[in-house]
Amino acid sequence: MSHPIIFDTDPGVDDAQAIAIALRHPDIELLGLTTTYGNVDIETATHNGLLLCELAGRGDVPVAQGAAGPMVKPRHPAPAHIHGANGLGNIELPEVKGKKDARSAAQFIVDTVNERPGEVTLVAVGPVGNLAAALQLDPALTEKVKRVVIMGGSVREGGNVTPVAEANMFNDPHAAQRVLTAGWPLTLVGLDVTHRCVLTPAHMQRIEAGQGELGKVLAGSYAFYRDFYREFLGIDGCCPHDSCALAWLLRPELFTTAPGHLAVVTEGLAEGQTLFAPEGRGFIQERWSQTPLVEVCLEVDGEAVVEWIADTLS
Ligand code: BDR
Ligand code: CA
Repeated sequence: MSHPIIFDTDPGVDDAQAIAIALRHPDIELLGLTTTYGNVDIETATHNGLLLCELAGRGDVPVAQGAAGPMVKPRHPAPAHIHGANGLGNIELPEVKGKKDARSAAQFIVDTVNERPGEVTLVAVGPVGNLAAALQLDPALTEKVKRVVIMGGSVREGGNVTPVAEANMFNDPHAAQRVLTAGWPLTLVGLDVTHRCVLTPAHMQRIEAGQGELGKVLAGSYAFYRDFYREFLGIDGCCPHDSCALAWLLRPELFTTAPGHLAVVTEGLAEGQTLFAPEGRGFIQERWSQTPLVEVCLEVDGEAVVEWIADTLS
């Protein structure tokens, strides 16, 4: 089955790998990339989106630029120590030839979904301001998308940028609260599963060998990202966070999910934390269970997911 998707992204080393999957997988029809600030500033995100498509020989894929910062709170500096100042591990990059789409990311999402109502899946792997802006332009999008898959959040795992918050949720908690509670069919692929997946140097060698010019960029940026994982987490390999969102879409049988209600803390020490109330579970008050039902990934066969990533890109 072919999945028409819009991929909303802040590339980013792990984003780049996921973009490669979106470009290469025979069961994905990539309708466009929409870019957001996050791992890098917005111009760099758009540059990298265009570049990755061109390196894959897919300069035809539209790239629409989106949010330059969060909806409400001030923007945090980009994490150059994780992704490199250029988002791709500070490696030297070829020139970009193409141009971004004339529309904003939000307009691109609205137009594309309206052209194919009921068919398009939005896969978002950065701060989710573009999805929030698209909902503002067309609130009925909730009825017209096929599904929304978000890499972000954490239910039991704790955070990666604060004790409780995952980076994409923390970067724009107000947008996240809007998007996660909008009432569209939504699956959250968070740290509970992405931290169970470790893409090793051996996997990356296979990917590099299989992806030509694109492979060189994926492997070069991975080497920088790997240093971060080694120093800060003591593992030899990287969590392919953003590819996990696509793994869920194409190989859902590798994941265990649970239905429930999500909310995002927008202020204070816990800002960016995702709160999950499992369906049917009674709490002291009902207020945690009043947002629309969504689906949250809780467990995964991590080895199978990284094999799938390496196989897809080999
Ligand atoms: C998420 O944050 C970003 O740094 C990664 O690209 C991923 O989308 C993981 O928390
Ligand atoms: Ca990302």
